[in-house]
This record gives sequence, C-alpha cells and structure tokens, in this order.
Amino acid sequence: MQICNISNILVERLLEKNSNIEGEFSWEAPSNIALVKYWGKYGDQLPKNPSLSFTLNRSKTLTQVKYVLHKNHVNHETDFSFQFEGAQSDSFKQKLINYLKKITPLCPMVSFLKLSISSQNTFPHSAGIASSASSMAAMALTICSIEKELFPDQFESDEYFFAKASYLARLGSGSACRSVYGGAVSWGVKSNEYASELVSFDNIFKTYQNAILVVSTDKKSVTSRQGHALMEEHFYKEARFKQAKHNYSALVRTMEKGDLESFIQIVEIEALSLHAMMMTSEPSFLLLTPQSLHIINRIRAFRERFGANVCFTIDAGPNIHLLYPKRQKDQIVSFIKDELLQYCENGMWIDDEVGSGPKLQMGKR
Ligand code: PMV
Repeated sequence: MQICNISNILVERLLEKNSNIEGEFSWEAPSNIALVKYWGKYGDQLPKNPSLSFTLNRSKTLTQVKYVLHKNHVNHETDFSFQFEGAQSDSFKQKLINYLKKITPLCPMVSFLKLSISSQNTFPHSAGIASSASSMAAMALTICSIEKELFPDQFESDEYFFAKASYLARLGSGSACRSVYGGAVSWGVKSNEYASELVSFDNIFKTYQNAILVVSTDKKSVTSRQGHALMEEHFYKEARFKQAKHNYSALVRTMEKGDLESFIQIVEIEALSLHAMMMTSEPSFLLLTPQSLHIINRIRAFRERFGANVCFTIDAGPNIHLLYPKRQKDQIVSFIKDELLQYCENGMWIDDEVGSGPKLQMGKR
C-alpha cells in the first residue's frame, strides 16, 4: 500500500473556502513489548530486521488535541500549547515541536495548524516503561484524524488510515508504528514503512499476560537512538539481522500452532540477544543489573519446578517483562509476590496483558 501526502495545493484550496476550521480529537494509544527485537536501522527510521510485538492493554497514553486550521502559517516554536499530566513540560514540548517539523513535508496541513495538546500516561512516569511508543502513536493517530476530517476523500479505507498513522508514528519513534494496532503486530515484513497486525495466531496469545517488574527507575545509560547507531559498525551485525529474521519466522509458526515451549525458547533468546549486542558493542553497555539476573534465574527455576509456561523478555533496560498464559494467573501472581518483588525497586510492578489497540475517545476518525 502506498502512503500518500495531502498536498499543499489541497490545503490552500480548503483555506480559500474556509479561513478558520476548528475541531478536537482525542486518542488513547497503548505501549507495546517486542518479542522479536528491532535493533538497528537505516534511512529514516527503517528497520534492519523484522520485529514482532504484543500491544499492551493498560500502559497507555491519552492525547487530546484542539486545533484551528489557520489561513497563515503557524510557528510552532512560539505558538503551541502543550501540557503533560496537567503541567508544563519543556522537554516533551520540544520533542513534539521537532516531530511536527519533521512530518510537515509529508503533512503540509500541519504548518497551518494551531495546536493545543494535553497528554497523560496511565502508567507511572518513572516506571522505566518507554512512553515514546504510546505517545507517538497517539499523536500520529490524532494527526491522521484531523487530516481525515478535513480531507475525507484522501482516506480510502480504515486499513489505509491505520497504515498512514503507523507510518507517521514510525517517524517519531520506530517501535511506535506497532502501537497503532492491537494483538500481535509485525513490522519489517509486509513493509518497512509501517506495521501490520499479525492475523493468524492461537487464541491463547489474545489474552497473554505481561507483568512488568520494575527493577530500576533510573534513566537509561544508553538511548535507543544510540543503541541503533551502535549496530552500524557492530562486529556481529549481519549475524544478528539474520538471527532476528529467522526468529521472526520461527515465532510466527509457533504462535500459529500455540506451541508454548518453542515460544518461550525464542522469546528469551531474542531478549538476551538484544543485550548481547549491547554488551559487545563499542562502546559496550551492560544494562542488566544483578537484580535482573536474579529474576531471570528465578523464572527459569520456577519453570523447571512447576512446568509453568512463564518466560521473560527485556527491553533496552534492566526491567523484566514476564509473559504467561492467563489460565496461570493465580500461580504466577503468587510467584511474583513471593519470589520476585524483592528484586524490584520499592516492590514496583505493573500487571498488564495483551490489548486490542488504540481507541478514539472523542471526535470522528
Ligand atoms: O523505537 P525505538 O527507536 O525506541 O527502539 C526500540 C527498541 C527496542 O525496544 C529495544 C526493541 C523493540 O523492537 O521495541
């Protein structure tokens, strides 16, 4: 599917007929957790390897946007209002201004939009969960809703709407392109430019549980931008991209079959491969802490002892995501409380699960 820009000429034509158009949209978009990791990119946030994620259900960003389409160009540096969780946040504001600048050539309408944005997360700000995926997805969906409201003929279908939102979210943060869909989502297979839903997988994964064990809320010592860049000269890069491609295909097959044993094996190898890349890059980064390793060892011992289908995945940080089928919830929650919370910062954990994707809260799509 080709993603098309709505040209400056169409925007100017609309502005000739109406000098002020106002509206309001509000989208809630979830975060996602990668099972096959995107690590290494080229061009403008294009992935070097396929990735696959679960969309979360409770870890979300809600973004409300009021807009006025103005007949003159708007300078977002000076004429832009943004609130995060009810307060001013200069760093988030600047990120959004940069994002608007970046997407303006693709969405010329943006340079005529006076925007007043307020945003909040459902998860604690310091919980070490990347909010860039949920916040960029919510922002991209809102921009697409405004475009669709003003230029309905340019959106041929819902499928196109979400592909465009995924494309725009990707430009804000690569993994954000997967947060535009629910369930299990792949990127870098059908297209490198936008993600798509994985359609065929066993029902057990539709309600899969994700417990996020917050080992540390400290700021990460390496940003994902630096991490992706480290892959450019990495000694193992070709092998890693090949491994991720292989693991992607193998994981999709095991998810179709509902084969939990292979699922566990692939997901854990992926998480540890991501960290192996960081440990062996130049410079090297060691993001796992002794607490992370204790948790990993406890999970493996628990699996041995009770045959439970619990496994872990890890993002580019020390926090551990437990993944397990819903039918084992009571057993795993007791395990978390009895054995794992001692390794978490102030006993912090988030009880999440696979979710159905973003929701329009107000306005029309
Ligand atoms: O979307 P970025 O640029 O923040 O990179 C995300 C990288 C990982 O979270 C480590 C893996 C992934 O696929 O989400």
